[in-house]
Amino acid sequence: MNKASMEKITSLCRRRGFIFPSSEIYGGLSSCWDYGPLGVELKNNVKRAWWQAVVQQRDDIIGLDTSIFMHPKVWEASGHLEGFSDPLVECKSCHLRWRADENVSNICLSCGGECTEPRQFNLMFRTFMGPVEDEANTVYLRPETAQGIFVNFQNVVNTTRKKLPFGIAQIGKSFRNEITTGNFIFRSREFEQMEIEYFVKPGTDSDWFNYWLKERFNWYIELGIREKNLKLRPHTSGELAHYAKACYDIDYQFPMGLSELEGIANRGDFDLAQHNRFSGKNLTYLDEESKEHIVPYIIEPSAGVDRSVLAFLCDAYDEEPDKEEIRVVLHLHPTLAPYKAAILPLSRKEHLAKAAKDIYAEVRQCWMAVYDDAQSIGRRYRRQDEIGTPYCITVDFQSLEDRQVTIRERDSMKQIRIPVNELNGTLIAKLGGEAFEILPPGGSHWLGF
Ligand code: GAP
Repeated sequence: MNKASMEKITSLCRRRGFIFPSSEIYGGLSSCWDYGPLGVELKNNVKRAWWQAVVQQRDDIIGLDTSIFMHPKVWEASGHLEGFSDPLVECKSCHLRWRADENVSNICLSCGGECTEPRQFNLMFRTFMGPVEDEANTVYLRPETAQGIFVNFQNVVNTTRKKLPFGIAQIGKSFRNEITTGNFIFRSREFEQMEIEYFVKPGTDSDWFNYWLKERFNWYIELGIREKNLKLRPHTSGELAHYAKACYDIDYQFPMGLSELEGIANRGDFDLAQHNRFSGKNLTYLDEESKEHIVPYIIEPSAGVDRSVLAFLCDAYDEEPDKEEIRVVLHLHPTLAPYKAAILPLSRKEHLAKAAKDIYAEVRQCWMAVYDDAQSIGRRYRRQDEIGTPYCITVDFQSLEDRQVTIRERDSMKQIRIPVNELNGTLIAKLGGEAFEILPPGGSHWLGF
């Protein structure tokens, strides 16, 4: 059973250094969050896992990192200036503002005042480039990373000679002046996206759309999200964005209900055709078979980094009865866990600490690891369970004699004892990935030999 509630997740994140309210010493800033020492590891691991799956392990997708500010014409061409808005209403009595299409009956009830007619509120943040603050110098913080990919389509084709179908991937910050935010990091005004724009020949788009639905759905499952908590949901025609021919959301069963984790859209030729028109530059693709210039169709899987982090945390969270106590444990996939291993000397005695620190120094060359010698070993295991560390390596007095250490596995709590010079190989087998060549010729110098 999923025992996560938003309060528990928020409190764990705060207490253990995953996520803090932004500018907390000044009272915080609404809907802005700072990733702490563990949060930045988790978030980087999510981004790295995505990049590996969609760029590194495929030869049909390449990466890009484009700027947040873009030429204002981009937002005309994309339709954002005209249509990227939500209906805003205001209570005439208490001046509270909210989205007209959201159910906020609880808030209205508290005042009972009369509401204004809905008006469209553009969600893009505006600022000025350079010292003159006028219309001509107005620029926008990008509300999606996608446009940086579209406007570079020709640059990428020319420099990489990629043939259709191929994709361009990007991870980066996006900004939306959301009318209502909330549910922790689920909806904020500054967030990160992981977007793929996959360019295909018209006519093959439906097949590729279906391909990406499966591919992206499975990505979450491979990283440990339980399938029963995920749902593919088609957009109704009323919900479809102005550019989309079809769209599905991958929804996750968050504590507040089933909500969007990622959107996968068939954008047709809308984006390249629009930028072609507004820039006057040829953004067509020469099909070598037919010798015709075509405007590729685009399939777009667009995921939120922060929402993924939240979903991974919620899915991993568990409270298990253990003897007289409750064990709080994050069953994070090892790929995502902030620390892969904790090195725990049984006591702070000097020769034991020295041996444990040697091991720590070597493990750290390959994986994020942590050293903890404070309080009882039981408490230390609990601390690591709570932050999702898959393996604890305990060094005890016997280790100095028999050159063995104990590895404790987070989920089963099983412990095995292995020779210290097999630790590297054991961790590789358990965690995957490659280790550095950490053993000097002739064997290990761990534990001083
Ligand atoms: N380029 C298409 C696009 O941006 P979207 O459905 O508006 O589509 C894609 O956004 C994903 O970005 C969402 O599924 C969500 O994960 C994330 N996202 C969007 N708005 C967000 C917000 N205010 N806070 C956090 N994540 C957000």
